[in-house]
Amino acid sequence: MTYNMIFHLIFCLFVVSVVGVNENNTKASYKCMSKDFPFLVLLKGTSPSIYCGGALINSETVVTAAHCIENFIKTPEKLQIIFNVSEENAEGTQKSIAANIFRHKKFDRNHFTYNIAIIIMQEPITQGEPIKLPTEKENERITPSCEKLLTMTWPYESKINAEGNSVKITLNPQLYCLELPLITKEECSLLGGENLDTFFCTFSEHDAYDHNCGDYSGYPVFCKDTLYGIVSNAYSCGIADVPNFHTKVEYVIDFWHETMAKVKMGRSINIKSTAFSLNYRFQINILHFLLLIFLEFY
Ligand SMILES: *[C@@H]1O[C@H](CO)[C@@H](O)[C@H](O)[C@H]1NC(C)=O
Ligand SMILES: *[C@@H]1O[C@H](CO)[C@@H](O)[C@H](O)[C@H]1NC(C)=O
Repeated sequence: MTYNMIFHLIFCLFVVSVVGVNENNTKASYKCMSKDFPFLVLLKGTSPSIYCGGALINSETVVTAAHCIENFIKTPEKLQIIFNVSEENAEGTQKSIAANIFRHKKFDRNHFTYNIAIIIMQEPITQGEPIKLPTEKENERITPSCEKLLTMTWPYESKINAEGNSVKITLNPQLYCLELPLITKEECSLLGGENLDTFFCTFSEHDAYDHNCGDYSGYPVFCKDTLYGIVSNAYSCGIADVPNFHTKVEYVIDFWHETMAKVKMGRSINIKSTAFSLNYRFQINILHFLLLIFLEFY
């Protein structure tokens, strides 16, 4: 088994959702509406089947976790971006397909650090409204202006087929939201958190477990309309006293700028090479013409 297969298996097993259990715990994840979060998108991959979350940072660009898109970098056409999934519209109200996928070059699969990716879509999601990024000033030290952040997921169920090696995934189109109380770097470190320069931590309070055991991979962590992180590694199945890790928005912003510079450079190289080839063809034509004249007079 390859690493990716093991990874997916673990994730899928980990993620089997048991929606509706423990309804008496009011602070667990709760039902919410995708139309209230116009930056939210669902990522749906085929072969391998995956579901992840993402956030629009403009109408053509989605930010998500690197571990979500690893298998689609060379086959972006197998990754769909679906907007506004709900019980009314299980297929969403707008869709696009990935055109280009960029993964952070320092992404570390073992520690889940630099777990960021950017997807450029073939067609823009025009119905959505991008999430805001913190301003430079806020960005110096990531101190969100709220005590609790929010994340969410469309839970899914996975089954292992007869051969035992592939998984069939059924999505629940009902969105679930989860409040995340922030904890300090020191507290997080005491609870076993590592690599805390790239992560910030939230805490599954004893009474705030996510009883849906949802997979929050790649979903935005935000408050009001501003992005503060991306779920990188979340122990959501009601494990006590374990922090959840989110890629800090500073890294997201840096990576976004880097990627956009690369995209622009790619475009200008394309333009230059077209210009060069036109020029080149033109010169060849002139040579050809001169040769013809020469032959004519000869
Ligand atoms: C409600 O909470 C109690 C105590 O934690 C638990 O034993 C019980 O299973 C819960 N009930 C439901 C329906 O989840
Ligand atoms: C999202 O879907 C809901 C219900 O299906 C619909 O009422 C709403 O207008 C949609 N939102 C957008 C921005 O299209």
